[in-house]
Amino acid sequence: MDPDQLIALAGEARAASYSPYSHYPVGAAVLTESGEVFTGCNVENASYGLTICAERVAVFKAVSAGHTRLLAVAVVTPTKGAPCGACRQVLTEFGADMTVHMASPDGDKRSFSLPELLPQSFGPADLAAWQERTRGGEG
Ligand code: THU
Repeated sequence: MDPDQLIALAGEARAASYSPYSHYPVGAAVLTESGEVFTGCNVENASYGLTICAERVAVFKAVSAGHTRLLAVAVVTPTKGAPCGACRQVLTEFGADMTVHMASPDGDKRSFSLPELLPQSFGPADLAAWQERTRGGEG
């Protein structure tokens, strides 16, 4: 899929942002390996720490629909902002090599690979390697 299409879908998802506290609406769209797109927006809460970012909403919608391999994510924010650290970690679980597009509503955009944004990441392979070493129960 053309990155601009994914960015456009993220921009549309942004319209549903629930952000009465930060007034910083964010929309995201993830592209699955099978070519489907799932979108999300940030959802804030009066108990601020319970807020969830648009990227994680989009990822969790994809995964809960059975899609665990992601190729790309687009995020649209007022400032062409980058995904936060928590979202980078969640993204790497489902597509360590994915492309990350960041855009502002006026169409300004930039793209990176996820390894550029989260170098030396921790992921499923670490646990698989550890479990292999500790097979037999000696931890
Ligand atoms: N936010 C996102 O949705 N994605 C990010 O990657 C950065 C921050 C949201 C969380 C909160 O609702 C608002 O932007 C301000 O932090």
